[in-house]
Amino acid sequence: MDIQQLIATVKAMVADNKGLLAMDESFTTCNKRFAAAGIPQTAEARRAYREMIITAPGLSDSVSGLILYDETIRQQTKNGLSFVQAITDAGMVPGIKVDTGAIALANHPLEKITEGLDGLRTRLAEYAQMGARFAKWRAVITIGNNIPTYSCIEANAQALARYGALCQEAGLVPIIEPEVLMDGAHTLQRCSEVTEQVLRAVFNALYAQRVVLEGMVLKPNMVLPGLGCSDPVTADEVADATVACLRRAVPAAVPAIAFLSGGQSGELASARLNAINLRHRLQAPWALTFSFARAIQQPALEIWKGQEANVAAAQRAMYHRAWSNRAARLGQYSPAMEVVNRDKDIIAEEAAFKTANEVEII
Ligand code: 13P
Repeated sequence: MDIQQLIATVKAMVADNKGLLAMDESFTTCNKRFAAAGIPQTAEARRAYREMIITAPGLSDSVSGLILYDETIRQQTKNGLSFVQAITDAGMVPGIKVDTGAIALANHPLEKITEGLDGLRTRLAEYAQMGARFAKWRAVITIGNNIPTYSCIEANAQALARYGALCQEAGLVPIIEPEVLMDGAHTLQRCSEVTEQVLRAVFNALYAQRVVLEGMVLKPNMVLPGLGCSDPVTADEVADATVACLRRAVPAAVPAIAFLSGGQSGELASARLNAINLRHRLQAPWALTFSFARAIQQPALEIWKGQEANVAAAQRAMYHRAWSNRAARLGQYSPAMEVVNRDKDIIAEEAAFKTANEVEII
């Protein structure tokens, strides 16, 4: 294992206050989102959509790396350039989702286990050879009556740790993603307790499998009340609960924490990431960044609608969301940044935005 190579990749993934854009939806998830937006669910539509994302002008101003899906890493732009090459040429780092999805955990109603360990060593070698430099595996934990169970948490932690060790062996940085879902009516406090329990189990398993903490990225949920919980919550409360939970459970040797958005709107995800950084960035031992899918892509998907004529407008919307999250890493995001006139040149305007107090975190 080349630890220095892993550390260099992590640095590139969090450099210059940028973050990650997850565009690794499986066929099923991507098709579901296309269907909701009235877009045909074909391989060509998925390719065109992913080309729109990868070639968005200026995306690399705020995005350091892109997480691809198995179908996508094998695809090309309409001009015949492989997506991996297009990403690398734009100065971003290509990554790959390597789990094969979450299925029902036997004997555990409503709970899931993520699959994909079979043949993983061979698949990782192929992805590395294709140019991927990091990987992602998502475990899903649901809060409800008497769940999550100890056995569900342990089974998922085991799988994450075995995946992490295999990634590092192959020279790929593992993104370790244990997601506690927002589904349900649980309180912020309950989410905090479950998230802490899950993170402790995950790090115990990572130690047992000898995963090098300096060569990984943690991708957790923010600590949030469930979607069905009526208690109001401010961005500052989310920020404080999230960082308190992480402090208890995540070793300082982990270089970066890249949050998932989990179904929050783009604006809320940016506001909460901003509060996390504004209130805690200077004391936290880890970089606090983003690895969002929906919170960056959703507005662009709705504008694109599968039409070539909408590509430029969709790219501008995506640029804006990515840029907002880079500002949030600096604690410089403000809801006023959402008042954009879509006819104006957002890219030029935001490029002029001064990131005066930027500091390199690692
Ligand atoms: P969301 O930001 O939409 O939650 O997706 C992040 C992700 O990569 C899920 O695995």
